[in-house]
Amino acid sequence: MLRRLHLDQPASFAFTPDNLAWAQAQITKYPEGRQASAIIPLLWRAQEQEGWLTRKAIETVAEMLGLAYMRALEVASFYFMFQLQPVGTVAHIQVCGTTSCMICGAEDLVAVCKEKIASEPHEVSADGKFSWEEVECLGSCSNAPMAQIGKDYYEDLTAAKMGELIDALGRGEVPLPGPQNGRYAAEPLKGLTTLTEMDSGKHQFNASVQLAHDIGDTVKRIDGTEVPLLAPWQGSGKAAKKPAAKKPAAPKAAAKKAPAKASKPAAKTTKPVAKAAPVAKAASGAVAEAKPRTMSAPRKSGADDLKLISGVGPKLEGVLNEMGFWHFDQISKWGAGEIAWVDSRLKFKGRIERDGWIAQATKLAAEK
Ligand code: FES
Repeated sequence: MLRRLHLDQPASFAFTPDNLAWAQAQITKYPEGRQASAIIPLLWRAQEQEGWLTRKAIETVAEMLGLAYMRALEVASFYFMFQLQPVGTVAHIQVCGTTSCMICGAEDLVAVCKEKIASEPHEVSADGKFSWEEVECLGSCSNAPMAQIGKDYYEDLTAAKMGELIDALGRGEVPLPGPQNGRYAAEPLKGLTTLTEMDSGKHQFNASVQLAHDIGDTVKRIDGTEVPLLAPWQGSGKAAKKPAAKKPAAPKAAAKKAPAKASKPAAKTTKPVAKAAPVAKAASGAVAEAKPRTMSAPRKSGADDLKLISGVGPKLEGVLNEMGFWHFDQISKWGAGEIAWVDSRLKFKGRIERDGWIAQATKLAAEK
């Protein structure tokens, strides 16, 4: 498909202050001379801000990264996650039209989009809310036909279901993503033959749908003000507002600071490890684990709703409770050692720092 810049372009582009701080912080992830690696997140953030990628936005990102405009345009025009023309204000719907989906009814989904949105792809609907396009395989072939709406997948679709989804989104609702025919994930249509514990009600949704449900940002555009802060490697709080753009060594500085904070929670640890452990680095370079202070039960006032921490769903909340964590202020006190201790006991490593649990818990504890 030919992907060109839209004919009608705005005269200027500027990141909002929040997005600019976020973008500059992203650049510090990369070593000196490698800042071009930040191109996709920066282009994506520009698109989240404006809804689509304008020529000025692409040029602004290129300038921030010291790239020739053409290099940035090459990236923007290659990936169809980047929209080079205006899209609907509520959602841009990407219907998969590749083999599995086509065999299972993608053409019917496209017909619904033509009827309810606009007769041509990339044409914004009369009310300005929607646009659509047909895309190549989105990797969800076992749940064909499917479409990506905003950040999530809607799978096992029918024409009727597609119509209902568009109507619901138009009313301001955000339907639950994932399989739309009652399937949990991609199990056989006639029911499970293995892993039958999925039927036990233990897991409400599959992992992707659970995350989409917990985060709830399917068609919401991120704007730089969201929690968690998106530059945790620079330290906590609004430190990300003043990134040291020309100091790619910032992650090291943050790593050095972390142990100092870790010493407080370590002092309250019920079963403290060796004194130096919370802050010491093992010979391998990894932060030594320090068991955080745990509680056998929540306080009389009741447990905090840990699911308010973005990235923590019902299942993970249960795991944290089992480990002895019931309150935001417990989590807010974790330092590097405590994070390493908890992290090593979770299935998905790195999520505490990646999702900014400490900053979120600190904020939630202060708001109580
Ligand atoms: S063919 Fe549609 S997701 Fe792969």
